[in-house]
Amino acid sequence: MGSRLVGYGSYLPEKIMTNQDFERMMDTSDEWIVQRTGMRQRHFAADNETVTDMAVMAAQRALDNANLTVDDIDLVIVATTTSELDFPSVGVQVLGALGATRDQPGFDVRGACTGYIYALHCARAFFAAGMHRRIMIIGAEKMSRFLDWNDRSTAVLFGDGAGALIFEHSTSSYSGIIDTVIMGDGKCFDMLHGTSDHRISMNGPETYKKAVTLMPEAAQYIMEHAGITAENVDWIIPHQANLRIIQSGAGRLGFPLEKIIVTVDKHANTSGASGVLAMAYAFDQGIIKKGQLILYPAFGSGLTWGASLIRV
Ligand code: ACO
Repeated sequence: MGSRLVGYGSYLPEKIMTNQDFERMMDTSDEWIVQRTGMRQRHFAADNETVTDMAVMAAQRALDNANLTVDDIDLVIVATTTSELDFPSVGVQVLGALGATRDQPGFDVRGACTGYIYALHCARAFFAAGMHRRIMIIGAEKMSRFLDWNDRSTAVLFGDGAGALIFEHSTSSYSGIIDTVIMGDGKCFDMLHGTSDHRISMNGPETYKKAVTLMPEAAQYIMEHAGITAENVDWIIPHQANLRIIQSGAGRLGFPLEKIIVTVDKHANTSGASGVLAMAYAFDQGIIKKGQLILYPAFGSGLTWGASLIRV
């Protein structure tokens, strides 16, 4: 049993914060931010706008795109580490907000920036076991909740938003979520983690060094597992943490720049929402076409890393 992608949706909050806005608030510059990260702007949720609100918007758009209703969905898995409430899960809240009537389950995975790959990994296993017919994967984050406006080294890097993908079971194992691999190394906790007072503690240069090796390693592993090379892949959609990381990783794998989907300039790093938002963006722009093969690597706090191979 495999799967196929039947719908996508995304939501970005209305408020846009540009590098110039940061220049007015702290000792930074558009030049530094663009040169070091490739970021030019990011969306920030309103004070009263929650992770669940954003997830619900993305989910509804994915349902509309797939021509389905919430009762057609059997399971919702949400990748998030920034939800306002410790419980219940955003997954079950999304089902409630959309008016689900079939007592369907929803839950969250906490894989930081790799969260959406962890969610896809769960979905692939559920499809393989024949356990659920339709699964919605959502990545939703309000990173602005964790920003320390006195720390220029992290404040400029993140953004808010949500993306959703709907997969349904298929007898083909060559479509939808073809493969996934997830990895983790808790010994690197100190490199990048949230703090109990809701800030981001990050050793940028050390994290950078890990990202440029581990993300390509996961991507390489999954290509070898599938018996393919970069030439067989139509697009690579890496986690959008930093343009330099994206280009270096894709270069190591032998991908030309034209095959890389980049949204970090528009969205900055939206952590667990990043790849899902980037996939939705690429569909909206008509960049990705039905039937194409996407390599989907990610990396984040944990450390966690992994990759997926998706035929859309
Ligand atoms: N504006 C201007 N100067 C700055 C800023 C800023 N916003 N931030 C830091 N600087 C300064 C530093 O103070 C330092 O100054 P100094 O040399 O006088 O001490 C200088 O710029 C260089 O700082 P570095 O940290 O060495 O800069 P680097 O080139 O490494 O870039 C960055 C920093 C962009 C954070 C990079 O290290 C990076 O992208 N790391 C990886 C981040 C990442 O991938 N995180 C992953 C996931 S996040 C998650 O899972 C939630």
